[in-house]
Amino acid sequence: MSRLAVSRLVVSRLLMNQLAVRHAAVSHPEARHYPQAKHPALSRHGHGTGDCEWAMNLAIPDIRLARSSDAEAIAAMSRDCIESGLAWSWTVPRVLRAIADPACNVAILGAGTALLGFGIMSYGEDVAHLALLAVHAEHRGRGLGTRLLEWLEKPALVAGISRVRLEARSDNPGAIDFYRRCGYCVAARVPGYYQGRIDALRLEKMLFDCPT
Ligand SMILES: CC(C)(COP(=O)(O)OP(=O)(O)OC[C@H]1O[C@@H](n2cnc3c(N)ncnc32)[C@H](O)[C@@H]1OP(=O)(O)O)[C@@H](O)C(=O)NCCC(=O)NCCS
Repeated sequence: MSRLAVSRLVVSRLLMNQLAVRHAAVSHPEARHYPQAKHPALSRHGHGTGDCEWAMNLAIPDIRLARSSDAEAIAAMSRDCIESGLAWSWTVPRVLRAIADPACNVAILGAGTALLGFGIMSYGEDVAHLALLAVHAEHRGRGLGTRLLEWLEKPALVAGISRVRLEARSDNPGAIDFYRRCGYCVAARVPGYYQGRIDALRLEKMLFDCPT
């Protein structure tokens, strides 16, 4: 099975089983306030079941692969949160192409019909590329961006892809801080990367050491 096929399989399984919920339980922002062994749900129910129940009860927004019906909301969020001041490039047709691309995962964070955030990552042989990531302004600072990013990184990790690369606008220090906190390091500055007008900082994260 190719790496890409493995990636897709892993994503589906994450969606289908409780691993995703367990992961949410330990990475949920509220969990940060408790050392894992002292987490109230864990001490009430014991490790292995309590964490799932606790996550369910807090109604943590779901992460799932986007459908074509999500494209309009994703494109609008890209225009408003990421591409402000630039010509809108992630239009609905482009998002639809990404959703249909077998080498790409478009993930969304949703609560009911509301789009709280999304991320788009493509997976190559050795490098995965994060094209876009955004969380709705009212829901930032709750750990949701971190969860989305980790969700998108996981298939790369399992498929043996050694690094994730992304570009962030040089005029967006908040995003650069966020990525640094998520383990990314600045690798280069790319002049005029955004429509010849705004520089990008290229950031990379090694998922594991390459064999020498
Ligand atoms: C960047 C973005 C996705 C972060 O999402 P988020 O849900 O707010 O991030 P989290 O809550 O998971 O934050 C994780 C860490 O990054 C830090 N962080 C997040 N946004 C930050 C900011 N603007 N400035 C400084 N630090 C920030 C948090 O403090 C947190 O640190 P901690 O782990 O020490 O507590 C979100 O701010 C966003 O959508 N911004 C607009 C779109 C954008 O710039 N996208 C990135 C370029 S494609």
